[in-house]
Amino acid sequence: MLLDRIKPLDAILATAEKKSLHRSLGWLQLTLLGIGCVIGTGIFVLTAVGAQKAGPGLMIAFAIAGLVCIVAALCYAEIAAMIPVAGSAYTYSYATIGEFFAWTVGWALIMEYAIAASAVSVGWSGYFTGTILNEFLGIQLPAWLSAGPLALGGAEGGLINLPALVIALLVTGLLVIGTSESAKVNAILVAIKVTALTAFIALTLSSSEFSADKFNPFLPAGLFGGWGTGVGAVGAAATMFFAYVGFDAVSTAAEETKDPQRNVPIGLVGSLLFCTVFYILVAAGAIGTLGGQPIMDAAGFPLEAGSAELARQCAMPEHAGALVCSNEALAHVLRAIGFSGIGNMLGIAAFLALPSVILVLIFGQTRIFFVMSRDGLLPEKLSAVHPKFKTPHVVTIMTGVAVAIGAAFFPVGQLADISNAGTLYAFLMVAVAVMVLRVKDPTRQRHFRVPAVWLVAPLTILGCVLLFFNLPTAAMLFLPGWGLIGIVIYLLYSRGSSHLGRGIVEVVDDIGGEETMVPIHPPRD
Ligand code: ALA
Repeated sequence: MLLDRIKPLDAILATAEKKSLHRSLGWLQLTLLGIGCVIGTGIFVLTAVGAQKAGPGLMIAFAIAGLVCIVAALCYAEIAAMIPVAGSAYTYSYATIGEFFAWTVGWALIMEYAIAASAVSVGWSGYFTGTILNEFLGIQLPAWLSAGPLALGGAEGGLINLPALVIALLVTGLLVIGTSESAKVNAILVAIKVTALTAFIALTLSSSEFSADKFNPFLPAGLFGGWGTGVGAVGAAATMFFAYVGFDAVSTAAEETKDPQRNVPIGLVGSLLFCTVFYILVAAGAIGTLGGQPIMDAAGFPLEAGSAELARQCAMPEHAGALVCSNEALAHVLRAIGFSGIGNMLGIAAFLALPSVILVLIFGQTRIFFVMSRDGLLPEKLSAVHPKFKTPHVVTIMTGVAVAIGAAFFPVGQLADISNAGTLYAFLMVAVAVMVLRVKDPTRQRHFRVPAVWLVAPLTILGCVLLFFNLPTAAMLFLPGWGLIGIVIYLLYSRGSSHLGRGIVEVVDDIGGEETMVPIHPPRD
């Protein structure tokens, strides 16, 4: 049977208990951690892509995506507080719905984190070339060096996005030598990002350029632009979902939280609510001042974000300065309404803060990879730990190279959409895992319980399905394509080499941490 291997939860919890981290985080630290991982390319760059998909309906898109993430965050919080070990959704699935589904979740997460890191690298590149090179140094990077060639994306004439490639490799280098972000650095970066966005909101909403007329028509591509088109407010929500991704990395801090029943939901939901309100205000400020109507094709349908045709239209004088054409949307808005200096400061804020988002994402990816490899599902050589730096350098370098290639050649919107497809799948499985555990193991201690779980978990599933089917078709198809490759690898390699399949439960705590080996009876095939 394919679905018979479930990792015993007790073995996993034995490791967690051994680790017994000091419970020191309060709701404020948790909220800061959440905001640090979440605010990034989504708001600083994809605002332009979202406007191209939905026009002023972008504000509704932020609200929809925020709601889906809030219910998903509650599910994450329950299971993360209960199974506080490395591997996140992959480990939760292993203990509840078994190895096969856990493999698919882990496989999807590998894609999610790596491609998200590529997307943030491309976002960073926009601010680096626009603000640092162009505004400050007066250097105009040629198009062939600043955008990928796959003109389903990139500007016309793009060949390689060199800054995006370089930042991805630099961050990988930092991770190989063991850099991790301290709480202090995170707090400083959160302060920089929040100050930049607050200034943006204050200046745009009070600007004389702001006018209610710019919100008309409010839904130029409708609420639903059509399944698989990726446009309309829900289509934009499927893309802007990216702006909230990252809180899943925070949910694993539940084990270090004081009074988790109170602080985890405040921290997770609080940071997401805060971001939702902030994002809606930023969208209102950008659209109310500069206008944010999509550029349409002859049939009155928004041109595909990142397409060659959109790039051509953006090069026309009548679209010069349009929000939907900008690679550094927020800085561009401020410059356009007469605040060049503050626009440049905002550009510097993005330039400084986005690399830490890349770091968290690549770090998350290597941890999943590492745990899967130590479970025997991926070759164990991959989980080798560097003798000097004590980091999983092999997976980190492999990941970094893949991230750099994605960043060098693909446009930001497409990368975000593909990454979202994987994330939505993982969130859906976490909601399933919460419900399965409530039924299978109702009496086990839960440090945090999802309120109204039979409403919240199904809502999470519905929300994920809704957003998934509103992604552009290519991004939607990427997930089953990637999944198929994963299933072939599972059947040809992982199933046979799985430690659990060989009768050993090996619970990995963390890199360099202790392992608990629990022999069990091998499951019958
Ligand atoms: N939420 C993160 C960002 O927008 C991934 O950059």
